[in-house]
Amino acid sequence: MRMVDLIKKKRDGMKLSRKEIEYIIQGYVSGDIPDYQMSALTMAIYFRGMDDAETANLTMAMANSGEIADLSPIKGIKVDKHSTGGVADTTTLVLAPLVAACGAPVAKMSGRGLGHTGGTLDKLESIPGMKVSLTMEEFIENVNRIGLAVIGQTEDLAPADKKLYALRDVTATVDIIPLIASSIMSKKLAGGSDAIVLDVKLGDGAFMKDYESALKLAQVMVSIGENAGKRTVAVITDMNQPLGLAIGNSLEVIEACEALQGRGCRDLMDVCMFLGSHMLMLAGVAKTMEEAASRLEYALEKGMGFEKFKEMVRAQGGNPDALEDYSLLPTARIRYDIRAENDLYISKLYAEKLGLCAMRLGAGRERKEDVIDLSVGIMLNKKVGDFVKKGEVIATVHANDEERLNNVLPDILNSIETSDERVEKPKLIYAVVT
Ligand code: URA
Ligand code: CA
Repeated sequence: MRMVDLIKKKRDGMKLSRKEIEYIIQGYVSGDIPDYQMSALTMAIYFRGMDDAETANLTMAMANSGEIADLSPIKGIKVDKHSTGGVADTTTLVLAPLVAACGAPVAKMSGRGLGHTGGTLDKLESIPGMKVSLTMEEFIENVNRIGLAVIGQTEDLAPADKKLYALRDVTATVDIIPLIASSIMSKKLAGGSDAIVLDVKLGDGAFMKDYESALKLAQVMVSIGENAGKRTVAVITDMNQPLGLAIGNSLEVIEACEALQGRGCRDLMDVCMFLGSHMLMLAGVAKTMEEAASRLEYALEKGMGFEKFKEMVRAQGGNPDALEDYSLLPTARIRYDIRAENDLYISKLYAEKLGLCAMRLGAGRERKEDVIDLSVGIMLNKKVGDFVKKGEVIATVHANDEERLNNVLPDILNSIETSDERVEKPKLIYAVVT
């Protein structure tokens, strides 16, 4: 087999067989196939696509490119949750402790932020002392003891995806369904959980900008998961505005702590409760969505989720006091309030633009190797559909550097659209795919 023939085959619109796909992935990981050939292939895939069988074969080849985590020493049905990537997506920090507090073990491997999207690992690292790289033994031990651990994906898990994702990132081949589906699902399959809840984001701040694409991505991923023997549910949720109020690392930790004490923003809580209910169902902890929701409500009301979060932080070397005394978290030096010039309604909060603004303030990475500032970001005070009185704060920008703040501020203002007339609150949950 020669890579050049396989590139040509895909370029001419033909299907690749399982053997051919395995040859490509093994060759790419071992270094026998160079980046320039792989990027020609991903561009051919971009234009020609892959059918469901090719996508499934690609996923399996990538999942098998490294180790498959063995979570069997963890008691109970392990349910993983994964988001396709959004802005201010604080869900894992709220959801994982709540679900664990309801008795479902959560052994979660999370990622870092790139571009306009944030990553759970970076957010957790704003808690002083917090370690996100545990050994597999520590990870399993923590989940068995307290029911919850969130760590970074280990190096040997789906190495093909690591290499391929970095290549796609610089060759304009990220936003294509078979490559996104195989990237996400290869990591989930290698992660070793028994069931998976996928949060497929739809909107301007997500990879999927229209409903049909989001639905297709959800269907492809669910079918890959089910065929690999894992119960898989996908929920399509809105990413036309940032989720919740906080965008930024320590700001989102604060948001999660507030949420776990019953003071969460409506949209964030609704998404967490809905995804969490599906997790409890898949874990066999609840029989119906109603039962699952009432268990989560109970855990929230009694502060059990917040206690679980503190337990996890302590178990991973973090200082749990920082979850109650926010001055122990990284804090930005400058706060700049954006205020309403008239009485108005918020009509749009462009998620992608706000995510990019937060990144430029220092909260995110333009390139993988960039160092981030955990303290900066944007704190919204209003969401789409909200009425704002003249002089009231719409958002507060947290920054450490005047020059950066002045550079970014006009774009933050451009990301906020207002109207004199009443604006409907946008839909939050579009569909469930099973
Ligand atoms: N998230 C991933 O892990 N991979 C993609 O390709 C897109 C989003
Ligand atoms: Ca948020």
